[in-house]
Amino acid sequence: MPVPFHRHELEPADAAAVADVLATPFLTSGRVGAAVEEQIAEFLGLPHVLLTNSWTNGAIATLLALGIGPGDEVIVPAMTFIATANVVRLVGATPVFVDVDPDTLMMMADGLEAAITARTRAAIPVHLYGQMAPMRALAAVAARHGIRLIEDAAHCFEGARDGARPGALSDAAIFSFYATKNVTCGEGGAIATRDTDLAARIRQTRLHGMSAGAADRFRGGRYRHWDMTRLGTKANLPDLLAALLPAQIARVEERRQKREALARRYREALAGFAPDLVLPAWVEGAKHAHHLFPVHVAPHMRDTLLARLTESGIGATVNYRAVPQTRYWRDFLGEERAEHDFPVATRWGEGTFSLPLYPSLGEAEQDEVIETLARILQEHLPEGA
Ligand SMILES: Cc1ncc(COP(=O)(O)O)c(C=O)c1O
Repeated sequence: MPVPFHRHELEPADAAAVADVLATPFLTSGRVGAAVEEQIAEFLGLPHVLLTNSWTNGAIATLLALGIGPGDEVIVPAMTFIATANVVRLVGATPVFVDVDPDTLMMMADGLEAAITARTRAAIPVHLYGQMAPMRALAAVAARHGIRLIEDAAHCFEGARDGARPGALSDAAIFSFYATKNVTCGEGGAIATRDTDLAARIRQTRLHGMSAGAADRFRGGRYRHWDMTRLGTKANLPDLLAALLPAQIARVEERRQKREALARRYREALAGFAPDLVLPAWVEGAKHAHHLFPVHVAPHMRDTLLARLTESGIGATVNYRAVPQTRYWRDFLGEERAEHDFPVATRWGEGTFSLPLYPSLGEAEQDEVIETLARILQEHLPEGA
């Protein structure tokens, strides 16, 4: 039985919500998106949420609103998706990579503190695979050094740790609603912040730097002039896509619990393969969003296992190669630093692959994944392992 890597959970009612938008003359950011922003703000218990057309553009709008640019450094983990570092470069600032914790693969407070210089303006911890980074410890370091904290919450809309959700302890948390994310509208994202002034600035940097969006320019039946007082990008989410979000947000906890049950089943079934196959540690007492289910094997076996799984009809992918190992960032850092400065992220990136994990994954499908992986592992592990 083939098992795809991903299956989205959108339903006919979501198509009807898009059709409702199509029946109006207004397709771009308007009333539908504003209502979703309120829904997310209520879900997170935060005062300000701004929808964006991707995590990436949301992060660029946030960095622009914070005035981060050339000459500034922003600390990012070496184990993440490339976008976390790319946005820093795209605004002209310099990403400073730090290696990650060997158990959870995330940025830790001591790694952050050691990387801070007089040029550091911000850090972007990543809630990798759906589990939150240690925000209380990271926020204490950020406060001590007067730097901004921006959470890369692309994997963690619905998680929590130490009594805090994304956005509660930082300047801003940024989410992704990309096609494979736990909450998706194909392409999209959101920024959540407690900071009223920052929210007002992002409202502008999200839309070219304009002082009024399309809906505001025509409010009350008369045209209002707008000005541009700061440089912005184009990061607003159209209502056509925002319409796909409300039903998913309403069911996000129910679906998280399905992900968690499946993740626990994987964990139990694969426990017997340790230490040849290892999983990231789950933080005790935290609410894990279980966005991805990565495993790690000896680097020399990884690509063979991936190929054998794919031949057997099991979808699997790599999340992620360490960012400093990609060609662009190797050139940027220099071979010597790229090769040696991030041993934990590099080794994880060379041996990891992710298994299918989504709420509609049936137990029979999951058993197929587990049995296929077990068979392939047994064939490839050394005799007696
Ligand atoms: C950790 C992380 N950060 C950022 C992004 C970028 O998100 P988007 O595609 O919405 O720009 C992703 C997307 O996969 C991601 O996994």
